[in-house]
Amino acid sequence: MTSKLQFAQSIHRLGTESAFEVLARAQALATEGRDIINLGIGQPDFRTPEHIVEAGIKALRDGAHGYTPANGLPQLREAVAADLHRRHGTEVNPDNVIVVPGGKPTMFFAVLLFGEPGAEIMYPNPGFPIYESVIRYSGATPVPIALEEANGFAFDAEKVLEQITANTRLIIINSPANPTGGVTPREEITKLVKGLEAHPHVAIMSDEIYSRLLYGGRRHVSLLQFPEIRDRLIMLDGWSKTYAMTGWRLGYAVWPDAMVDHVTRLCINDHSCVNAATQFAGIAALEGPQDAVDTMLAEFDERRQFIVQALNELPGFRCADPGGAFYAFPNIEDTGLSSRAAQDLFLNEAGVATIAGTSFGAWGEGYLRFSYANSLENIEAAIERISDIL
Ligand SMILES: Cc1ncc(COP(=O)(O)O)c(C=O)c1O
Repeated sequence: MTSKLQFAQSIHRLGTESAFEVLARAQALATEGRDIINLGIGQPDFRTPEHIVEAGIKALRDGAHGYTPANGLPQLREAVAADLHRRHGTEVNPDNVIVVPGGKPTMFFAVLLFGEPGAEIMYPNPGFPIYESVIRYSGATPVPIALEEANGFAFDAEKVLEQITANTRLIIINSPANPTGGVTPREEITKLVKGLEAHPHVAIMSDEIYSRLLYGGRRHVSLLQFPEIRDRLIMLDGWSKTYAMTGWRLGYAVWPDAMVDHVTRLCINDHSCVNAATQFAGIAALEGPQDAVDTMLAEFDERRQFIVQALNELPGFRCADPGGAFYAFPNIEDTGLSSRAAQDLFLNEAGVATIAGTSFGAWGEGYLRFSYANSLENIEAAIERISDIL
């Protein structure tokens, strides 16, 4: 029987995050008894530090069972402001902090705030796939910021500025970046901020979810450090990657005054508030000891150095040094395989889950994303299996 249901056109424009599809396929293969090493999904393989878990449990025991303010508990928003001051040396008013369930809702809300037919929104490509997906969903035109290997996958400020038109409403940037691990240097960010002075109609969303995951002595440059754009900056960050809390669903953004009420209403319409116990865990994460973050970072760095060298030794592979996040994004053109063919081959024949570069946009063709959020032992075994196949 054919369905008589009439879906909104917009739903057909919504994309997805292939990492979840690869995860499902990897799990299905594992259920069939295959031994799968998952270098596909982008989440820390560590447990949430114990004192954070305890704070969540305590909150539940203490009766934190009701709604909280839609923008988040005041103590949590104050803890966020204090953390931003410590890390970036910037003053943030807790009233401008809006706590949401993870990193994703901020990007969805930012795009909903500006996106409609006729509007243009720029986004990194290859980049986190949800940007392009929600831009299309909103009806706005997605304008890619092409990121190049030769440039360390950093954005080129001049090229971004050249693409601005009267219809550009929002520019999304992401450093350290998914899927490339690329880190945009301070000079380029400064150039972008300076150039934006001539375009006061353009807002900017800076996705800084990997701001604590930088290697080789690199320091994070937060867009919050540029007061001249604070009235149109949305700065996204959260707990998922830093504190190994992907499943808790907790994130936040600093929004400019003009957007706070709109976004708070989006929160009220969408989810009311983040679950209360999770918010207490979030306070413990920010205010408690940070040594678990340092330990994770050191572990990631060791794996990063190993995987980059190992990938560069594979025939047909060439891997740039990723300065941040927990991804390596090797160029695989010389294997003669397309990104998708390589993803399928390595999963089906080698039992290694990776993600095709094209899952992150058209500019990802010729690349494959390896998440090194897995044990050194597993990474080593995965590379060996791929080497055998090649
Ligand atoms: C660049 C980027 N931003 C945001 C997110 C979303 O994080 P969350 O799981 O907190 O929604 C991710 C997750 O992979 C990411 O890679």
